[in-house]
Amino acid sequence: LASADLVVVGSGFFGLTVAERAATELGKRVVVLERRAHLGGNAWSEFEPETGIEVHRYGAHLFHTSNQRVWDYVRRFTDFTGYQHRVFTVSKGQTFPMPINLGTICQFVGQHLSPTEARALVREHAAEIDPAHVGNLEDKAISLIGRPLYEAFVRGYTEKQWQTDPRELPPEIISRLPVRYNFDNRYFNDTFEGLPVDGYAAWLERLADHPLVEVVLEVDYLDVRGLVPAGVPVVYTGPLDTYFGDAEGRLGWRTLDFQQEVLPIGDFQGTSVMNYADSDVPWTRIHEFRHFHPERDYPEDRTVVVREYSRTAEPGDEPYYPISTARDREVLARYRERAAAEPDVFFGGRLGTYQYLDMHMAIASAMSMFDNRLAARLTEG
Ligand code: FAD
Ligand code: NA
Repeated sequence: LASADLVVVGSGFFGLTVAERAATELGKRVVVLERRAHLGGNAWSEFEPETGIEVHRYGAHLFHTSNQRVWDYVRRFTDFTGYQHRVFTVSKGQTFPMPINLGTICQFVGQHLSPTEARALVREHAAEIDPAHVGNLEDKAISLIGRPLYEAFVRGYTEKQWQTDPRELPPEIISRLPVRYNFDNRYFNDTFEGLPVDGYAAWLERLADHPLVEVVLEVDYLDVRGLVPAGVPVVYTGPLDTYFGDAEGRLGWRTLDFQQEVLPIGDFQGTSVMNYADSDVPWTRIHEFRHFHPERDYPEDRTVVVREYSRTAEPGDEPYYPISTARDREVLARYRERAAAEPDVFFGGRLGTYQYLDMHMAIASAMSMFDNRLAARLTEG
C-alpha cells in the first residue's frame, strides 16, 4: 500500500476497470483490495469440477450493451459468443415465453390475437384500477397489465421475490411491467449481446492482468484503511453504509440463495432459465448452465442445475438488489452527504452507490469516473 498511486477497494467490474485505466492510460501503480478469496466480484464463474460446466457463482450473468465504447473496450479482454438470452416461465402447469409478449398473451387466452386486439384486451383489464388510487404493488401491477396476466405471471413470482404478499408491498417497487405487442421473445433489446467465449473468470483475470496492477485477495479494506498513506486516492466499491459504520442506519438489500445439483441426465429443462410463477413452488427460477454455451463440448449424460430463492438480506448475507424504499432513499441521501465530505475517496459501483448496475453500466460508469474525475486527480501536482 505504501507505494500505491491509487487504492481500489473491490475487484468487480467497476474496480478492475478503474485499475486498468489508471495503469494503462497513466502508468500509475494500483493496489486492488478484495475481501473475497477470488477476484471479479459478482460476475465470477467457475467450472463445476465433475462436469466442466461453467457456473456463475453469484447468479446467471448475461452480457448485453448498446454502448459502442463499452463494447469496443470489453472485446480487448475477451471474445463473445453469439448467445441470445430467452426466458420462459411455468405458470399453472403450462410454459410461456417471457417477458410477456404477443406469444404469451395468445397462448394464455388460447386464441390468435392481433397486436391491436391484444392491446385492447390488456387495456380493458387494466382499467379495473384507477392509477391515481394505487396503494400497493398489486394495485399498481393490475393498473399496468390487468388482473388475469398479473395473477398468472406476476403475483406468485413477486411474492416469492419479496417473501411478502404483494398487497403489502409498496407500489414504487415496480415502475413498469413491459408487455411487447409482437412475437419478439429476446430478453434484451440491446445492440450487442453474448457470453465470454472462455468464461467470466478468464475475462476478469485478463482485465486485472497488468504489471502495474496488484490484486490482494482476502483483505478487507475496513481492516487496513489506516495503512493507506494520506493523500492517496481511494476508489471504494464496497457497501456505502458499511464504509460509514452504518452510522445513518442500514440500506435495505435483497439477497439470493442458490441450491446447486449435478443431475445424471443430459438435459433437464431444454433452456438456460425457467422461471416459476406459482407461489406453491418455493424457488423463483432454475438455471441450467449448459444451455448458456451450446457451442461447448459438455458431457451428454450430466447437467448442472441451480435453483434460486430470494429474500431480504440480513447482516452477513450478500447484498444483491437494492430495495430502495422511501426510507432507504432518505438514508441514502444522508450517506451521499457524508461521501461528498471525503475528498480522497471516490465511491463507485453497485454497492458504493446503492444502485443496481448491469455489467456494461458498471464498466461505463467506471470509465466516466476515470475520465471525468480520477485522471485529473492522479496527474495533478
Ligand atoms: P461487485 O461485482 O459486487 O464487486 C464488488 C467487490 O467489492 C466484491 O468482490 C466485494 O467482495 C468487494 N468488496 C466489498 N467490500 C469490500 C471491502 N470492504 N474490502 C475489500 N473488498 C470489498 N449484470 C449484467 O450485465 N447482466 C446480468 O445478467 C447480471 N446478473 C446479475 C445477477 C445478480 C444476482 C447480481 C447480484 C448482479 C447481476 N449483474 C448482472 C450485475 C453485475 O454483477 C455487476 O454489474 C457487476 O458485478 C459489477 O459490479 P461492481 O464492480 O460494482 O460490484
Ligand atoms: Na498484475
